Amino acid sequence: MNYGVLRALRGVSHIEDYPVLYSGLANYKSWNTEHHIETGAVERLRRVYNESSNVVEYDDLGKGSVRTGGDRNTQRVRRVVSEISKSSAPVHQCQLMYCLTSAKKPRTVLELGTCLGISAGYIGLALQNTETGRLYSIEGADILAQIARETIDQLHLSNTQIRTGSFQSVLPDLLPQIEPIDFVFIDGHHEGDAMTGYFELIEPFLAPDCMVLFDDLSWSRDMRSAWNRIKVHPRIRHSVDLVTVGIGLMR
Ligand SMILES: C[S@@+](CC[C@H](N)C(=O)[O-])C[C@H]1O[C@@H](n2cnc3c(N)ncnc32)[C@H](O)[C@@H]1O
Repeated sequence: MNYGVLRALRGVSHIEDYPVLYSGLANYKSWNTEHHIETGAVERLRRVYNESSNVVEYDDLGKGSVRTGGDRNTQRVRRVVSEISKSSAPVHQCQLMYCLTSAKKPRTVLELGTCLGISAGYIGLALQNTETGRLYSIEGADILAQIARETIDQLHLSNTQIRTGSFQSVLPDLLPQIEPIDFVFIDGHHEGDAMTGYFELIEPFLAPDCMVLFDDLSWSRDMRSAWNRIKVHPRIRHSVDLVTVGIGLMR
């Protein structure tokens, strides 16, 4: 459990007016052995990636991650898997997503930024438990998408589909083909205008009451000001600022 998140949550007013958020957070606060067992397989894979000295080469579309201090220009990169693994959402954040997904019971989930499939693994496991929906996760780097598919296979998740390509190229084809989206995790391309652009692109496809998580708000001033613009969007009914992650609840 992350006490920073809990401290931030204490400042959220009228949280009881948002039952799904309330129950997801209550679940998170009481994270227990059963939850650990349910998600243990993902953490075992994370440990394997954390220790892997394999080197992979790909076009980095992503402007890095605040967790690794990554690159700010798109370029061909060679990276050790153990380094890439550090850009995965940390355990406490994955646990939070697991609890929110379990409470929300979404039918359709969209993730922008799969990387090695760690956060996708948590979301997929929550969906499997609630027997509710499907996750579509997009990754621009072929080799990372390939590793993420292996992650998903090892977790025996038949509800998770990884699409390879840039968000810009995959979304226009994918969005009209899927059911209205109930839950979104935006965790790639950490530039304010890009994040706002992806939000505007997906917004017409979001179901009423959709929950959208925006990651890496502390990456830059630009990301923070993009969040400040997004949270006053007319379709956002309520927003919660957890410092690095922002949660938007749609109307
Ligand atoms: C921070 S990592 C995602 C971590 C993952 N959500 C997790 O927690 O396990 C961001 C990923 O987004 C991908 N990415 C960034 N910008 C992209 C873009 N414009 N199109 C497609 N993929 C992109 C990067 O290649 C990178 O693997």
